[in-house]
Amino acid sequence: MSEQKIPIAYDHPDPARSSCSTAQAWAKKPREPEAGDKAELTERIKRLLKEQDAVLVAHYYVHPDLQDLAEATGGIVSDSLDMANFGHQHPAKTIVVAGVRFMGETAKILNPEKRVLMPDLEAECSLDLGCPADEFAAFCDAHPDREVVVYANTSAAVKARADWMVTSSIALPLVRHLHAQGKKILWAPDRHLGGYVQEQTGADMLLWQGSCIVHDEYKAKELQELKAQHPGALVLVHPESPRAVVQLADVVGSTSQLISAAQKAANTEFIVATDNGILHKMRTLCPEKTFLEAPTAGHGANCTSCSHCPWMAMNGLSNLLAVLERGHNEVRVDPVTGERARLPIARMLDFARQIKLPTRGIGNA
Ligand code: 13P
Ligand code: SF4
Repeated sequence: MSEQKIPIAYDHPDPARSSCSTAQAWAKKPREPEAGDKAELTERIKRLLKEQDAVLVAHYYVHPDLQDLAEATGGIVSDSLDMANFGHQHPAKTIVVAGVRFMGETAKILNPEKRVLMPDLEAECSLDLGCPADEFAAFCDAHPDREVVVYANTSAAVKARADWMVTSSIALPLVRHLHAQGKKILWAPDRHLGGYVQEQTGADMLLWQGSCIVHDEYKAKELQELKAQHPGALVLVHPESPRAVVQLADVVGSTSQLISAAQKAANTEFIVATDNGILHKMRTLCPEKTFLEAPTAGHGANCTSCSHCPWMAMNGLSNLLAVLERGHNEVRVDPVTGERARLPIARMLDFARQIKLPTRGIGNA
């Protein structure tokens, strides 16, 4: 594999971008409301969403309360591709994104005329933090012969430098398409997803060395042991996981693709290597099946995430209600950057339509 070692990992020299941010994120996790308060909060949020012509778009990793609320109010809970698609197609004047910042920014870039709100604007992503725009621009400048493909988990400024944006559900067909055209690829920021795509497609890819703090912690040896204890279990793995973990998978895919595999498979037991927020949807859709979390502990584990994204955990009912009441936490993207960043996203959405990738927009949610 063509690979450039560049000193980008999660421990960024800038303290604001260092691994302390995981501790800061956990510290900002909203307190769980009491059961009685929860019902009241939910009712107030429902009323405000309606009054403000707002739609709630949530990721599978956020708290089950928010996932259920999104669906109960005509919004969506989905992977990042469908979040972008659905928000773009929906007629609501306000999009409320329960997820992390790149998801809010993508919604704003695709819908500059709409108001986009988030429960907490500091909900980051280690991949985004580990790929600063200035360093990424220098990387691109050094390799002008390559088609620049960036993962959705990046800032607007990084997307503005790209030819294509991809999410995990479309990365393989898109890179296959570029490889068939003889294109060499510069890929950022997730090294595990990039490595997986490179192996599957045979494309010439130069990889940025970023990683997801949640998926990086799954352990192959412990997963093998768990598999041995549950020989009938199907192993579902998100491709942001390390290669040794992906190699043990029966199914590798985006969050939506893993849920769909769990629904379709005849197996009754599953081992899931992705953020445990996804288990809510899996258990709701397949109540008769058993879902086990893939192990993160073991030699070398530091458990900054323990299978749950600290930034996704910053979304809660209380701060969702607060943004609707006060109208703060509006996502803003510099218009010039946003216009340029829109190109790689729009190209990806067009490509998804061309290849008829199953997506969940309005009318087929
Ligand atoms: P999906 O697009 O598969 O939902 O992934 C988003 C993400 O952040 C995974 O960590
Ligand atoms: Fe980013 Fe990982 Fe959190 Fe997904 S789970 S948002 S990739 S840190």
